[in-house]
Order: sequence, then structure tokens, then C-alpha cells
Amino acid sequence: MFRGLNVLGIPGSLRKGSFNRLLIKNAFMMLPEGSNAIMYDISAIPLFNQDLEKDPPESVRDLKEKIRASDIVLISTPEYNHSYSRVLKNAIDWISRPYTENPFVSKVVAIFSASTGSVGGSRAQEHLRVVLNALGALVVPRPEVILVNTNKKFSSEGKFIDPVAIELMRQLLKEAVKLAIAVKEADKVLQKI
Ligand SMILES: Cc1cc2nc3c(=O)[nH]c(=O)nc-3n(C[C@H](O)[C@H](O)[C@H](O)COP(=O)(O)O)c2cc1C
Repeated sequence: MFRGLNVLGIPGSLRKGSFNRLLIKNAFMMLPEGSNAIMYDISAIPLFNQDLEKDPPESVRDLKEKIRASDIVLISTPEYNHSYSRVLKNAIDWISRPYTENPFVSKVVAIFSASTGSVGGSRAQEHLRVVLNALGALVVPRPEVILVNTNKKFSSEGKFIDPVAIELMRQLLKEAVKLAIAVKEADKVLQKI
């Protein structure tokens, strides 16, 4: 059994009762035994200002450090007006700078979305995937986990109760773990070359 996997969860919503944060929390419970999972709250990230990119605020340094230290990043985004949330875009813009210090390069990222609407954030995911690909992240290609009508998909205790989506999430996490192991092994080999 592969142990010691570091996983960072980034919800794209600041809302206290965020379904996207809840979805990541439930995903954490499906990770292999021994995984170390941390949820990140992007509410402390200020608006991006390129004047500060070489000396970013502490919250940005911390987030970049946590991404660097993780084997897998899980991002769950709401859909806002047919795209992913601006608070998430703002955080990603900070993370991506300066160009040579972007911790998303070769980082395994699994994305999913939860929305109260009938398309479940599929458009948001599409935009997010394009941006993460541009930053060099290894975005797990499939399956897509799109939680529609999300207000009906959790129990009163916050437990994920959609059997089809649960199975898709298991498959997505399995693919992410597989990719993360492959990256770790590749890094070991490259160190010897
Ligand atoms: C400004 C705004 C725009 C939204 N636009 C969309 C949309 O285009 N498509 C959609 O499916 N849901 C849309 N929604 C609904 C959100 O996806 C839904 O409220 C979701 O639960 C928010 O995520 P959270 O629970 O993690 O905060 C919108 C909500 C807000 C506040």
C-alpha cells in the first residue's frame, strides 16, 4: 500500500456552508489510508497586485508552499455566471507568479464542481481545466465529477449521498493517486540521471 500521500483541498467558494468545501471533505474520506489531507481557505488571499508578485503576502506564500508540499491538489469550484469563481481565479493568478516559481508545474490536480443548478458547474470546470493546463498542472483527464442539484446530494450531517457521483469520485481519486505515484517514481529516476 502506497503511504504518505499529501493532499491539499482548495474550495473555490468562501461561503460558510459551501457545498464545494463539503465535497472536498467527503473526497478526503475516500483517499488511501495514511494520506495527509489539508483543507485550504482562500479567504485570506488579497486581490492580485503584480507589483507584489516577487514579495507576496504571507497567505500567498503559505498557499504556494502547501501546493509545493502536496502530491495531489483537489479543487472543487462552484459555477458563477458560466465560469469558475473569481476568488479562485485570483488565488490561481497569485500562485502562478512569478513565472519561474509556479508550483502547479507537474503537479497532479483533480478538479470537480458542485452547483445547485442543473449543469453542476460543467462550464466552470472546462474553463478551470484550460487555465490549469496552461500552468503546467497534470490535470486528471477523467472521469468528470459534476455534482448537479447539489443541495440534494448531502445528508443533514454533510455526508455525500449520491451513489453515482460517489463512484465517479472514487474513480477520479484513484486516477489522481495513480498519476501522483507515477510522478514520484519519475522524480526518483530523474534524480539519478
Ligand atoms: C454570482 C453567482 C452566479 C451563479 N451562476 C451560476 C451558473 O452560471 N451556473 C450554475 O450552475 N450555478 C450558478 N450559481 C449557483 C452556484 O453554483 C451555487 O450557489 C453553488 O452552490 C455555490 O457553491 P458553494 O455552495 O460551494 O458556495 C451562481 C451563484 C452565484 C452566487
